[in-house]
Amino acid sequence: MLARSAVIALLASTFTLVKGQNYGDVTYYTPGLGACGRYNTATDYIVAVAAQTFDNYPGHGTNPNTNPICNQSIQVNYQGKSVTVAVADRCGGCPGAADLDLSPTAFSQLADQSVGRLHNAEWNYV
Ligand SMILES: *[C@@H]1O[C@H](CO)[C@@H](O)[C@H](O)[C@H]1NC(C)=O
Repeated sequence: MLARSAVIALLASTFTLVKGQNYGDVTYYTPGLGACGRYNTATDYIVAVAAQTFDNYPGHGTNPNTNPICNQSIQVNYQGKSVTVAVADRCGGCPGAADLDLSPTAFSQLADQSVGRLHNAEWNYV
């Protein structure tokens, strides 16, 4: 029989794995002044996370500029391609909590911009 501590460790690692995987739609936009309080351009490797995720991120306060999700690295994987981006903005128009809005250059690492929207891309905080 497994010791209680082993069961807890197993549950904890399973939870981490599940928690670390997110699936959402990926689009792109032209960045400007982001919710994190910094200016970005189309060629920066940045992402706007869904408002729902931005607003509920642990440790957030009333000032979006100091939300600890800002500058977090996210790796997005889609059909064998991947790109790592930093959180810079809040996507008010993203319907799903796990949807991401990338800079055009970051989006291009995953697919041609003419595709417009990627469905069910997988991503993790890294
Ligand atoms: C994000 O990084 C910039 C540049 O290092 C820094 O000025 C800013 O305070 C950081 N934001 C947060 C919320 O950590």
